[in-house]
This record gives sequence, C-alpha cells and structure tokens, in this order.
Amino acid sequence: MNIQWYPGHMTKAKRMMQENIKLIDIIIELVDARIPISSKNPDIDELAKNKKRLIILNKADLAAPERTKRWELWFSAQGFYVWKMDARSRNNIKEVTELIKEACQEKIERDRKRGIINRPVRAMVVGIPNVGKSTFINTFAGKACTKTGNKPGVTKGKQWIRLNKYVELLDTPGILWPRFEDQEVGRKLAIIGTIRDELLEIRELAYYLLDFLLKSYPGIINNRFNIAENHDKIEVLNMIAEIRNCKLKGNELDIDKAAKILIDEFRSSKLGRVTLEFPEDN
Ligand code: G4P
Repeated sequence: MNIQWYPGHMTKAKRMMQENIKLIDIIIELVDARIPISSKNPDIDELAKNKKRLIILNKADLAAPERTKRWELWFSAQGFYVWKMDARSRNNIKEVTELIKEACQEKIERDRKRGIINRPVRAMVVGIPNVGKSTFINTFAGKACTKTGNKPGVTKGKQWIRLNKYVELLDTPGILWPRFEDQEVGRKLAIIGTIRDELLEIRELAYYLLDFLLKSYPGIINNRFNIAENHDKIEVLNMIAEIRNCKLKGNELDIDKAAKILIDEFRSSKLGRVTLEFPEDN
C-alpha cells in the first residue's frame, strides 16, 4: 500500500490516534527492522506520553540478524520493551502477549488492589504504511478465539480482539505518516518500497543503495552479480545492466532497468538480509 500524505490526512490520522490512545494502556509500535529510525515517526512520542511502549522490529526476516540484535539493545536502552519478528508467522504470539502483560504489570496490580479483576490491558498497533500492521493484527486475531463487540465506554464501532485473559488488542491500527520530507529518510523508505517509486528517480535510488552496499556490506554485490567491487557505483550499475542484458533499442544499456532490478532484488532479499541504518549512526 502506498499513501500520499497531505496535511489534511495527517491531521485526521492524528485526531483518530488521539481518540484511540485514550482507550489503551500500551502502544505497540511497528517499525521496519531494516530502517528502524527512518520508519519511525517521532510525533508518536508526544501522542503516546504516559503510555507503555512496545517496539516491534518487524520484517526482521529481511534484516541482518546481528544488526537487529544491536537495535534491540538500543531500543531497550531508550526504555522501550522490544521484540523482533516476522508478523506473518504465528511463532511469536505467546512471547508478545507475555511482554505486553509484563509491561502493564503495574496497572494489573493496581487494578487488583482496587478489586478490579478480569479487566484486560488494552493495546493498539501503530506504524507507518506497509510496515505490517494489518498482518500483525490478522496473525493475532487468527489465534484469538473471541472478538469482543461494543462495550460501554468504548467508542462505537470499535472491536477488541481478546488475546488472552489479560490482553485485548484494538482491531484498527493507527497510521503514522512517514517523515519523507527528510531526503535521506525518503530515499530509504523508497528503497524498501513504502514510498512509490515514481516519486523518486530510480537511478538515483540505485546509486544510493549501491554506495551503501559497497561500503557497508562488502561482498554482497559480488555474490549476487559476480562483479568485482573495485568499481564505483556508476560502473557497477552499468555492469549489472550488461550482465542482466538490459538493453535499449540500438544496443544501448538500459540503466533504469538495471536500477529497477537491483531495487527489486534488494526488496525481495535476493541480495541477502540487509539493514540500511545502524544504531551507532544515531
Ligand atoms: P500495513 O497494514 O502496515 O500497511 O502493512 P501490511 O500488513 O499490509 O503489510 C505490508 C506487506 O508487508 C504485506 O505484503 C505483508 O505480507 C508484508 N509483511 C508484513 N509483515 C512482514 C514481515 O514480518 N516480513 C515480511 N517479509 N513481510 C511482511 P503484501 O501486501 O503481500 O505485499 P507484497 O508481499 O506483495 O510486497
């Protein structure tokens, strides 16, 4: 899904989020494990103040495992609860549910002391488009046996998915707008496919990615395309065009086609598992 954001959209999304946040105890914020900072919107810090926070490093199956480990430590050090996962898999349901319970233990205790029992903590999923919010909710909803309907005090139409005795999940995610006005962030979002390709020059994007890969992941281009890495990004993209037979009429190299191949193969992790930003850069 690609969304174009205008100020009106953002105001509406923000208003909806503010309303929903009132109802919940913990925010589950999905970020893309390949770009955990660029796929995060700092506005959520203001919206979510006083709430417990769980960061999900999603699409961890596409990110470099040792980098994801470092990001887990980094987010923990910032005071977040953290979990890495592939939202398409049901493997993590138990652990995530336990983590939510642990994060909200104080509230559970407080309720118990006041004689309030059987009031589950309430969680809500938020994140930028395409980060995996619906997938996450569907994975959890598929497991949950009950969907609770409207309840007194709950805005009409809201559905809660009961995960277990202790935890309920709001079935509509909060959509955060990406920080695409920052050029560096915009490029990374385009590389992973959050922002529409047409909005950015595909060739520029490929050069940016090649620059990064040649510097930070030596060997990866050589492995995939059998190209020696003692060339600069422009030469490498030309060579990819030759190797993959990207030709225009008149036998001229089709560099844009090669750029598209590189980006597509990156997105589908054919180049390997790559993380585009590192905690030490923050
Ligand atoms: P959203 O609600 O936040 O907008 O995201 P959504 O769940 O629709 O997920 C966007 C795409 O990302 C989906 O692919 C989904 O299958 C994929 N996805 C979600 N979580 C993960 C994950 O942890 N790992 C991987 N590898 N993919 C994940 P889609 O709509 O089928 O598009 P595509 O797969 O054809 O690109």
